[in-house]
Amino acid sequence: MGSAGPRTVLITGCSSGIGLRLAVQLAQDPGQRFQVIATMRDLQKREKLEQTAGAALGRTLSIRHLDVCSEASVAQCLGGIPERRVDVLVNNAGVGLIGPIESISITEMKRVFETNFFGAVRMVQAVLPGMKLRRSGHIVVMSSVMGLQGIVFNDVYAASKFAMEGFCESLAVQLLQFHVFVSLVEPGPVNTDFELKLMEDVSRSEFPGTDPATLRYFQEVYLPASREIFSAMGQSPEDVAKAVVQVIGAARPPFHTLTNPLYTPLTALKSVDPSGELSVRTYHSLLFDYGALFRLSVRALSCLTCRCCRRRVAPV
Ligand SMILES: NC(=O)c1ccc[n+]([C@@H]2O[C@H](COP(=O)([O-])OP(=O)(O)OC[C@H]3O[C@@H](n4cnc5c(N)ncnc54)[C@H](OP(=O)(O)O)[C@@H]3O)[C@@H](O)[C@H]2O)c1
Repeated sequence: MGSAGPRTVLITGCSSGIGLRLAVQLAQDPGQRFQVIATMRDLQKREKLEQTAGAALGRTLSIRHLDVCSEASVAQCLGGIPERRVDVLVNNAGVGLIGPIESISITEMKRVFETNFFGAVRMVQAVLPGMKLRRSGHIVVMSSVMGLQGIVFNDVYAASKFAMEGFCESLAVQLLQFHVFVSLVEPGPVNTDFELKLMEDVSRSEFPGTDPATLRYFQEVYLPASREIFSAMGQSPEDVAKAVVQVIGAARPPFHTLTNPLYTPLTALKSVDPSGELSVRTYHSLLFDYGALFRLSVRALSCLTCRCCRRRVAPV
């Protein structure tokens, strides 16, 4: 990975959240190791990135249009980069989808796969020939803990991230001989606009075709639990971006990076019992049998991990 001069990093989905923070952290790198091409599908949303980037804008950070769902947009963006050179690709753009599966149209499901899976694959296809030719490169994919463990009412989103995990697992082996690394980053909940957008979608839906019992579970059990999990266990986009900077800066980049250690035991259940029985039953019990206990544990975790508590126990 040791080419001279700063490495060119192209990031998708930089209008908000993790992509925005990552673009800024890389562009403000004290060692000036990176030239960042921060892309977004709607340039009218560029102001927040411009403001956050400060003096890095126009020096180590440039902003370009890129919609991962459009072949033409990807070609145009890559065509504008000198020698089409991208040393590090960060596939960050993504959309969520929650709700009872009966109420979601196939068109909505395809939109998730178009962005989270085919969008990322399209980007890989665009940068791979150059990386192979130079015999160096790094592809980083913003997956999720839901790429390792399915979560109730997130069926299609989890499937799109599982698809990405399988894709990368296969690709990483082929690319090693070209010195091109592949890394999956798997955050738990992150406090960005992501959850807000999901809740807006939910508030607009009437969940056609869903039976009353499932709808009640979704609205009265899942949604409140999800909100508590985000507020108790959610990371900041800055923290996730920091983890990605480390992955990009590593001499031997890791294949998996779970950014939230609280999720490690939950994703390990499958390895403990390869039949899958343990993880299915544990998740069912956590949400439906011990819902109250689960929420209490989440609150306790929230107290243990909150900053004010850490300050109180900090040595003088
Ligand atoms: N937040 C979480 O809890 C969480 C947890 C695990 C993994 N992740 C993953 O982290 C990544 C970033 O999410 P985030 O939390 O930062 O959410 P976010 O703030 O909603 O950011 C998502 C970004 O993706 C962009 N995007 C969507 N469709 C696109 C397309 N077709 N072409 C280009 N850009 C597109 C959005 O642009 P617009 O502004 O134009 O919509 C936005 O910039 C996603 O892949 C997500 O799946 C998030």
